Amino acid sequence: MENGYKVYIKKNFSEIDIKKDYDKVLIITDENVEKLYMYDFTRNLNFKNLIVYTINPGEDSKSLKVYEDIFRFCIESELSRKSLIIGLGGGVVGDLSGFVASTYMRGIDIIHCPTTLLSQVDSSIGGKTGINLENYKNIIGSFYRPKFIHININTLKTLDCSEFLSGLSEVIKYALICDYEFLDYLLKNKDKILNLDEECLIYIVKKCSNIKIDIVKKDEKESGIRKILNLGHTFGHGIEKLGGFSHGFAVAIGTHMAFRLAYKKGYIYKSYYDRVLNVYKSYNIPITFKGIDSIDILEIMKKDKKNSFSKINLVLPAGHSDVDVVNNIDEKEILCVIEEVKNEF
Ligand code: GLY
Repeated sequence: MENGYKVYIKKNFSEIDIKKDYDKVLIITDENVEKLYMYDFTRNLNFKNLIVYTINPGEDSKSLKVYEDIFRFCIESELSRKSLIIGLGGGVVGDLSGFVASTYMRGIDIIHCPTTLLSQVDSSIGGKTGINLENYKNIIGSFYRPKFIHININTLKTLDCSEFLSGLSEVIKYALICDYEFLDYLLKNKDKILNLDEECLIYIVKKCSNIKIDIVKKDEKESGIRKILNLGHTFGHGIEKLGGFSHGFAVAIGTHMAFRLAYKKGYIYKSYYDRVLNVYKSYNIPITFKGIDSIDILEIMKKDKKNSFSKINLVLPAGHSDVDVVNNIDEKEILCVIEEVKNEF
């Protein structure tokens, strides 16, 4: 298996090849995905000794309680070191099932079958697993490579529009960190993408997964280049937590702040700043917000687990589809761009 990051991009759930030497397969999914896809998914599997654990949809399931419940279920079901876990669902299912797989009996195999755009282009790739503790997101977790990732792009057709757009925000991120032509593609093909044209979906999922695989192969544990994947995330963190925005929308607003800061500091031209904002606007992805205290956002940024030596690490644009990680920005400047972006509402 190519470095543990083999991604199959398909239009269905067929051809998922489960080796015969597993004694049992546990599928972890959520209620929504179970209703929509479990019949089709299991019908296509070349494996019969299947059990299913279904969680409630949503971030609250990434908890120690649900983790423990799944562990008890694994023990009762006599899962062994020869068993396989499949995570069938979005980012929550992927993070949680990955963490269960990485810790059950010190680690058993996992295959990810992501069903949301965000999980297909980002969270299922790169081996990050995790659960939350109180307000600390993914504070308990591990890096754990799946055997492979099977993406059925047709699951994107049952996402509601806002969830699809939230995933698109992460798609745009890839264009901004390293592929300027992809930004053009996203603008030129906007209508087809929004109409869920299959060839476009395959193109964007393939493009993003290839970029991500290239990055994580160079820096799996995020000690260097992998940090660029966090464009918009540090600013977005507080927006997500305090404003109730989805992860993708919070990242879009956070990316706006990163671009505003970079433009003010002279790292990028106004024309590039405007172009990037237009991409978000053309897709109707929010890039501003109201009703959250800027100081509260800054406080959350200061607690980001990606900081080091008590300094806020920020990924900022440095040119067309080029970014740098910086940690020397004054808190007052950060506060100022948060205020400016908020006042654009
Ligand atoms: N979502 C960012 C990463 O996987 O590193």
